[in-house]
Amino acid sequence: MYPGSFDPITNGHLDIVNRSIKLFDEIVILVAANMRKGGSWFPVEERIALIKEAVGNNPKIKVESWDGLIMDYASKNNVNVVIRGLRAVSDFEYEFLMAAANKRLNDNVETMFMMTGESLFFVSSSLVKELHKYGSDISHYVPLNVKNKILEKGTKI
Ligand code: COA
Repeated sequence: MYPGSFDPITNGHLDIVNRSIKLFDEIVILVAANMRKGGSWFPVEERIALIKEAVGNNPKIKVESWDGLIMDYASKNNVNVVIRGLRAVSDFEYEFLMAAANKRLNDNVETMFMMTGESLFFVSSSLVKELHKYGSDISHYVPLNVKNKILEKGTKI
C-alpha cells in the first residue's frame, strides 16, 4: 500500500505509483490522516476522487481511505509492504521514525522507500498550494484534473 495524506495528489506521488505498479501485483493508495498537519485543503472524498481520475482505470490500483493506524489497515487487508517516496535527506528522519514505529506495530509489514524522480524531488502539496496562491502555473507539479479542481477553487486555500 502507498499511504499518504495526498492533499492533493501530485505528479511526484504519481511517479511513485507508476513505478511501484511494475513491482507489485496490486497497489492500494490509502488516503490517511496525518495528525501533524492542520486543516486539509481537500476533503477526503475529493482527494479520493482526484486520485481515481488521475490513475485512470487500472485494475491493479485501488484507492481507499482509512481513519486509523495504517498498520491496522494492513493487518485487516493482508498488506505486507508499505511504499513511501523519499525526496531529499530532509524526508529521511521522519520516514525512518515512521517506518520503525510501524514495524513495532506490525512486524509482518516492511516499508520500502523509492527515490522520487529527479525532476520532482522538490515537489510537495504545500509547494503547489503556495505557487497557486501567488498565481504561478502549477501544470508541471500536478495532473490536469487536480490543476482544474484547484483552479475551480480559485485562490482560496
Ligand atoms: N512527490 C511529491 N510530493 C511528495 C512525495 C512525492 N513522492 N512524497 C511525499 N510528498 C509530499 C506531499 O505532497 C506532502 O506535502 P505537504 O507536507 O506539503 O502536504 C508531504 O510530502 C507528505 O505527504 P504524503 O506523502 O501525502 O503523506 P504524509 O507524510 O502526510 O502521510 C501518513 C503520513 C498519512 C502516511 C501517516 O501520518 C500515517 O500513517 N497516518 C495514519 C495514522 C498512523 O498509522 N500513524 C502511525 C504512524 S507511525
